[in-house]
Amino acid sequence: MLTIKIPVQNIEATRQIVLKHKIIDYDYKIKVENGFGHIPVKKETGDELLSKVIEECKEEITKQNNNYTIEIIDLNQEEDLETVKRFPRSITELLKGKLTEEEIEELKKSFDIIGDVVIVEIPEKLEVHKKEIGEATLQFTKRKTVYMKKSAVQGVTRTRELELIAGEDNPITIHKEHGTRLKLDVKNVYFSPRLATERKRVQEETNDGEEILDMFAGIGPFPIVIAKEKNVNITAVDINEHAIKYLNENIRLNKLAPNAHITAICGDTNEVAKNELKDKKFDRIIMNLPGLAPEFLSLAISLCNDGGVIHYYEFSDGFFHGMEKVQREAENQNKDVEILSTRKVKSYKTRMWHVAIDCKVTEKK
Ligand SMILES: C[S@@+](CC[C@H](N)C(=O)[O-])C[C@H]1O[C@@H](n2cnc3c(N)ncnc32)[C@H](O)[C@@H]1O
Repeated sequence: MLTIKIPVQNIEATRQIVLKHKIIDYDYKIKVENGFGHIPVKKETGDELLSKVIEECKEEITKQNNNYTIEIIDLNQEEDLETVKRFPRSITELLKGKLTEEEIEELKKSFDIIGDVVIVEIPEKLEVHKKEIGEATLQFTKRKTVYMKKSAVQGVTRTRELELIAGEDNPITIHKEHGTRLKLDVKNVYFSPRLATERKRVQEETNDGEEILDMFAGIGPFPIVIAKEKNVNITAVDINEHAIKYLNENIRLNKLAPNAHITAICGDTNEVAKNELKDKKFDRIIMNLPGLAPEFLSLAISLCNDGGVIHYYEFSDGFFHGMEKVQREAENQNKDVEILSTRKVKSYKTRMWHVAIDCKVTEKK
């Protein structure tokens, strides 16, 4: 381990010269001991360049009217200098040599960061590297836990199997979104941070005083984000008791608008509609269960006030089929429907999207 040894008062001038010649070894810190500094020099620096740098340093130090002493010291043991803990700038740097650049790019697109937890999708052929990918993800994201997806979102509760690949096995976390705190257990409830923009959009379209129904509320991200800003009454239903437990916690955890109120109901929306919601109507209905939403469309239209808005979501390659379904169901109930807007919320499969269709339902005149 080569260092340039100079008196402490000459460290800065010498460092500037060493830097200029690009021979400083960034892996080690400058060591200061007994009135002298040791500036680490790259191992591969040739003798000729080193002599040139030393001459320049001597000149500079003499200019400063200092009594100079300058030496090249071979410390021999690398432990003599403290190593610099450099944080890698990107996951690409961390996985270089293990994965190709294309593979790393692919991985980056499949990260979901939920509070302190990262969920990553690893293609089958890269599973042999899952531990390295996990550790690199942990370092890169500076979160506490990395899980790998082991299944698609499945079953009535829309949850997936996860495998711990780095960090601590703790699926409970608090995710921050639009000034709210959303507590959840990533193993037992559905949550997607990719819907954040959609939630903000629905919040912005909502007016104070509205009566809202979230038919498939999960841990309550739509209700909480809306009620944080708007004075509304929200009924939030979900069949998953874990989701309702966190929804109730989230109501307590967040300071909502002064006249906002959220009621959480655990149950199948079809049953809840016949019981708790009997004779109730809503100004706005959120239907974020894209795989099954068409089956609930008729119920949503029947629960809608005259002039009420439905946020309908489904998986589709476009908007045509969804718009047709909404129009047909409204027609069946002798109602008119106006499509207010459509958008692609996020990609789902190849050429398939999680799409949103906002529509206004009115009684036929
Ligand atoms: C795609 S998740 C959406 C959750 C939430 N809206 C969000 O954006 O995070 C769908 C939710 O619907 C719930 N669910 C499924 N079938 C249901 C039913 N028949 N009645 C009530 N909730 C249901 C699931 O438990 C799940 O939490």
